[in-house]
Amino acid sequence: MFGNKKKIPQIDKEQLELIKNAQKRIKQKKSLYTHFILFLIGSVALIVANLGLHIGESYKILGKDWFIFIIGFWFLILTYHAFNVFVINRFMGPSWKQNQLDKLVAKQKEGIEKLKTKLPQEETKAIPVLEKKKLSKKQNLTLIVAASENNAIGKDNKLIWHLRDDLQRFKTLTSGHCIIMGRKTFESFPKPLPNRTHIVITTQQKYKAPHGVIVVHNIEDALDAALNDKHPYVIGGGEIYKQALPFADKIELTRVHNSFVADTHFPELDLSEWRETQNIYHPKDEENDHAFSFLTYERI
Ligand SMILES: NC(=O)c1ccc[n+]([C@@H]2O[C@H](COP(=O)([O-])OP(=O)(O)OC[C@H]3O[C@@H](n4cnc5c(N)ncnc54)[C@H](OP(=O)(O)O)[C@@H]3O)[C@@H](O)[C@H]2O)c1
Repeated sequence: MFGNKKKIPQIDKEQLELIKNAQKRIKQKKSLYTHFILFLIGSVALIVANLGLHIGESYKILGKDWFIFIIGFWFLILTYHAFNVFVINRFMGPSWKQNQLDKLVAKQKEGIEKLKTKLPQEETKAIPVLEKKKLSKKQNLTLIVAASENNAIGKDNKLIWHLRDDLQRFKTLTSGHCIIMGRKTFESFPKPLPNRTHIVITTQQKYKAPHGVIVVHNIEDALDAALNDKHPYVIGGGEIYKQALPFADKIELTRVHNSFVADTHFPELDLSEWRETQNIYHPKDEENDHAFSFLTYERI
């Protein structure tokens, strides 16, 4: 009522496309029809010229009048034109092209969907590995442990054996470095070990430790606390080895060649992830209760 605009009839895109195609088809058929008429007139004219007006009457090809060849050749062109209009342009026209395009797009969409379903699984698999690599690359984390043939490492919060050479090796390797351990292992020492930075993991928020001992409440914080050390060591016990194993690059394992009853064990190693790079056998003697081997494993 108040200045209502007159509605202009709208043609949508699809309709416009249909109209365009119809016009194109009409044009194609018209040109074929014109060609056909021209062919008829032309053929008659050629026949009249040759037979009626005797033009080139004496000129023969393979014993036949020349107009037969011209009309024959022209007929072939006309047939090709008709084939184009009724077969190629009809069945392989714009709608056929669109159809092919739609099929291609559908196929690609299907491929993308398949990739999408695969991707989250691969991502969840890959991210922890990346994180692990990032941490370990920076830190070069080593687990150092003495374990028997049945992976026993301790009983009643004590070691099960006395191996002087193993203790000596432990001292040589860990001196000057950060040593990460569980609260129970820490408490199994009479006092902190000299010349090493102790990082003790406990859930106890008010845990009292001697001066210089760093107290943390999870394995990640322990690794963070050791960030300035290029070769920190995880020295046990069973609970901490288990949690630290995924972050480790190296394992210094003293394999004690015997089996023991124990309450604490080292986790079973997946040997597809580890490569043995050193193996030194040591027989039993007065200083060492059992035969053992110093084994070094590096992450593959
Ligand atoms: N053969 C070897 O090479 C070797 C080396 C080291 C130790 N050991 C032996 O291993 C035994 C000790 O090992 P274990 O497994 O019983 O104890 P452990 O690993 O030394 O310490 C366990 C304690 O660490 C703390 N803890 C563990 N995970 C934690 C987390 N995610 N967040 C916060 N705190 C955490 C808890 O302390 P709170 O209870 O205070 O919360 C837990 O009770 C002993 O027998 C020892 O002699 C052997």
